[in-house]
Amino acid sequence: MAPYSRLIKFIAVAVVLGTPAAAYAKQPSPFTFSAGDTGLQLGGPGLAPEIRVAPNDLPGVKRVANDLAADFGKVLGVNGTTVVADWNTTVSQRGNSRPLVLLGTLGRSSLIDALVTLKRLDTTAVANKWETFSYQVVHSPWDGRDAVLAIAGSDMRGTIFGAYDVAEQIGVSPWHYWADVPPTKRQYIWAGDNVHTEGPPSVKYRGIFLNDESPGLTGWAGNKFKKSQYGSPFITDFYKLIFELVLRLKGNYVWPAMWSSMFYLDDPNNGPTATEYGIFMGTSHHEPMARADKEQGRFLNGSWDWASNKAGVQAFMEEGVRRSKNWSTVYTLGMRGSGDAASPTLTSSALQEVIQWQQSTLKRILGRPLSEIPQAWVMYKEVPGYWQKGMNVSEDVTLLWSDDNRGNIRRIPIGTEGARSGGSGMYYHFDYVGSPRNYKWINTIQLQKTWEQITLAYDSGIRNIWIANVGDLKALELPTAHFMALAWDRTSFTDVRSTRDWLEVWSARQFGEPAAEPAASIMTTYGKLTARMKYEDLSMTPFAFSTINYDEAENNLNEWTDLLNQAQAVYDGLSAELRTPFLEMVLHPVMAGRGVYEIYTKTALGSKYANEHRTSANRLAREVQAAFAADADLTKRYHSLLNGKWDRILAQTHIGYNNWQEPSANSLPKLSWVTTSAKNALMGVSVQGSSAFFPDTAKLTLPAISPYMSPSDQRWLEVYTRDNGTFTYKITSNGSYVRVTDAERTLSAPGGLSDSRSLITIDWAPVPPGLSVAALTITNLNATSITATVLLPIENYRVPTTNFTGHVEASSVVAIEAEHFAPSPASSPEYMVIPDYSRTLSGVKLPPQTAPQPPGAGPVLVYPFWTFTNASAASFTVYLSPSENANPNSPNRYSFSVDGGSLATVQPVPLTDGSTEPSGWSQAVIQGAYVAKSSLGRLGAGKHELRLWLLEPTMVLTKVVVDVGGLKASLMGPPESFRIGG
Ligand SMILES: *[C@@H]1O[C@H](CO)[C@@H](O)[C@H](O)[C@H]1NC(C)=O
Ligand SMILES: *[C@@H]1O[C@H](CO)[C@@H](O)[C@H](O)[C@H]1NC(C)=O
Ligand SMILES: *[C@@H]1O[C@H](CO)[C@@H](O)[C@H](O)[C@H]1NC(C)=O
Repeated sequence: MAPYSRLIKFIAVAVVLGTPAAAYAKQPSPFTFSAGDTGLQLGGPGLAPEIRVAPNDLPGVKRVANDLAADFGKVLGVNGTTVVADWNTTVSQRGNSRPLVLLGTLGRSSLIDALVTLKRLDTTAVANKWETFSYQVVHSPWDGRDAVLAIAGSDMRGTIFGAYDVAEQIGVSPWHYWADVPPTKRQYIWAGDNVHTEGPPSVKYRGIFLNDESPGLTGWAGNKFKKSQYGSPFITDFYKLIFELVLRLKGNYVWPAMWSSMFYLDDPNNGPTATEYGIFMGTSHHEPMARADKEQGRFLNGSWDWASNKAGVQAFMEEGVRRSKNWSTVYTLGMRGSGDAASPTLTSSALQEVIQWQQSTLKRILGRPLSEIPQAWVMYKEVPGYWQKGMNVSEDVTLLWSDDNRGNIRRIPIGTEGARSGGSGMYYHFDYVGSPRNYKWINTIQLQKTWEQITLAYDSGIRNIWIANVGDLKALELPTAHFMALAWDRTSFTDVRSTRDWLEVWSARQFGEPAAEPAASIMTTYGKLTARMKYEDLSMTPFAFSTINYDEAENNLNEWTDLLNQAQAVYDGLSAELRTPFLEMVLHPVMAGRGVYEIYTKTALGSKYANEHRTSANRLAREVQAAFAADADLTKRYHSLLNGKWDRILAQTHIGYNNWQEPSANSLPKLSWVTTSAKNALMGVSVQGSSAFFPDTAKLTLPAISPYMSPSDQRWLEVYTRDNGTFTYKITSNGSYVRVTDAERTLSAPGGLSDSRSLITIDWAPVPPGLSVAALTITNLNATSITATVLLPIENYRVPTTNFTGHVEASSVVAIEAEHFAPSPASSPEYMVIPDYSRTLSGVKLPPQTAPQPPGAGPVLVYPFWTFTNASAASFTVYLSPSENANPNSPNRYSFSVDGGSLATVQPVPLTDGSTEPSGWSQAVIQGAYVAKSSLGRLGAGKHELRLWLLEPTMVLTKVVVDVGGLKASLMGPPESFRIGG
């Protein structure tokens, strides 16, 4: 089962290294595309196949046959044709020399069934399974025919997935409409002899929820489709495009748009069309019994309240079941309050009664046993609180758990919940409207995080339903594709590197082979940068990235700029038709995301500059204004693509949030300007790591410099103009071993060079051991009485042994990326390192199957480190992913000890009654981390060993910091310390 195979890579790896192939290459494609290839020829100059379906096959199969014929046409430039014909007719057409593809459902297709009966086709890998298919060349199927390609499905959707899989293998992306991926043009298509089999899927019902769909999707569709009598543009022509995409992604389940739509009423064809296509429809968490929320206002007698209006509510719900009687439906059960809110009157026992009544109604109206009716009760928001109080809910009901709206799973099945016949499900978010802030503009999803949380869900037994809230769908193509790939074949994603591998294969399919590796690398970095903070959260004050410490804000923006340069370079190298999907799915998010980061970063730096009265504060303010204008231009550029195909789709406001709800228009944050008066002292000096400046402060002090500085850390000072004018300055030092770049310069404002940064380094050989302080003097040569002093503490400490491996203190801090635990026998290989996870480097966690561990037992992470400070009150800070206590019987905890001393155990996230988020949750999801600090007491200088035990498989460690007196405030903590032997 490997939907993503890449033959060339497979061969290269297998031949060169002789190692087992990566998951995606388990089944190389049977198709080849060169003139001289052999096998069954399906396409050539002027030649395209005939797709044959049997007259007795299902409507969805006949429909997809037309898509497959058209897809061959897109690839070959010659259309395939679809022929409905039974076996006898087919066999009798001796004169037909067209290549033939027989597409059919086992037990429903006389074509496929005849091949099975004649023992030409072995379908044991497919028969009697859910949504499974195989395709293969069948030789000599009947007299006079050398070979045909047979695509056989176990059921209607199995056959449909088989047809769409062939389409994808020959070169038609599932995203051909929704992201304008061009078909791969080919002159030849050959089918070789290997059998390609996929299914059954890892998750039975898997799909997407179109939600928070205004202004983007609604505005776009309003331009494109005729509105229903109720004013909704989401009519059947729209849903056909959605259903096709979902099926091409091998999904089978949709929750329809519902903000101001009624799926079953907006177009009477919506319901039957879903069933014809092969889609199970559901309704969202607060829309029970297949009736839209918006139907309540029109058709409900009395109020939406079980306690006071049982009869009205029951009549309303019954109608939903009656209406959908003949369609494929997963029924949402339970009840919440009016709209998307908790009910003020429902109790656990009333809710139990609601569900019992709903089940008896389903049984009565549908006339089928409950075990054959898919039903889901969505444990969203306050709902798990009812369950936690104790409820008796029939086992046929799937308990559909949810995340916290920010991608952190709130709950996995525990105890007997895992044994329920209806199984478990997951409602997961890539988009959200609500506190602490909406996020519904462009993609902010880190795929590694999705992989980690969804793997936790699957391995905890959540396998019956997965549904992802994909917002407007556009702009969330990548997380949607990834989610659906995981749901289809989780076994291809067992390796911690699988997300990156998948991303590369996916990129090759959308943007072509040469762009695959760079696109995967760009989107991996993009995920890391957005994991630091979502765009909508950036307006929180004070700005989360420090403009003072660790150069955090500046370095972060530089990373965005590097990323943009990479994306632009790939774009520039692509053909015109590949540029469009690349722009939509890679370049636009990088450009637009960087633009928003630029706005907030430069606004925050500008405020610091204005405080220093730098004239360049005004330059920063103008750059922010330009970035704001560029943001609007980028939206226009997107909306004018392909003659306006995507007009209005990115109309979502995203700059200037000041509460959880989106602003009515984008607005600039408050900018800081300085006025020139010719009265200000002209020369200004600032140093890294301090908000003090000259002339306000005569003597400035830099953070200490050390031979063990973090490789990404630098020491610098800046000289700048504070008013109009020109001056020349010189930097001198009282220590001959202090090196300063650009030690003499002329600055001038307006119009000239107004700011200059000098990097400070040390020639270590002559430096006296221990702590010393060098003084740098910055003299204004035009007014030599004006001098600023910058003190540079020099920590010339040395680890006195060559027999030490580990991290070393600098500036009174030791910071360690979680994956850099000691490779000693004491360290446990049981931990998984998830590359590219979270905000800085990676994540470390116990495998999901691991049982909760007692404190100080089980797999241990060992971090040796060396300090030079005799600290009287050291502390220890742990950075964890914002994962919740997904197992309430066993909340997230870790234990640690230093130098074999006493063991401390910390539970960073408090437990709740299931109805609310834990305290500290908002901050954790905004900053992408739980940060827990513990006191270590006295910690002498020298060699140390930190031992850390993660006790739960539900948590991920990303970074640890030991503070011996120098830790400064920042979003992500200090950059990683120097590591001897790293
Ligand atoms: C091929 O099929 C497509 C869609 O079915 C149609 O638009 C196109 O005109 C056809 N091309 C030819 C050459 O018949
Ligand atoms: C095909 O023809 C045979 C013999 O002529 C007949 O017995 C059989 O029922 C036919 N099958 C179908 C599917 O029509
Ligand atoms: C400083 O220069 C700017 C830009 O040329 C000018 O607008 C401003 O009036 C000048 N200030 C003074 C006090 O001359």
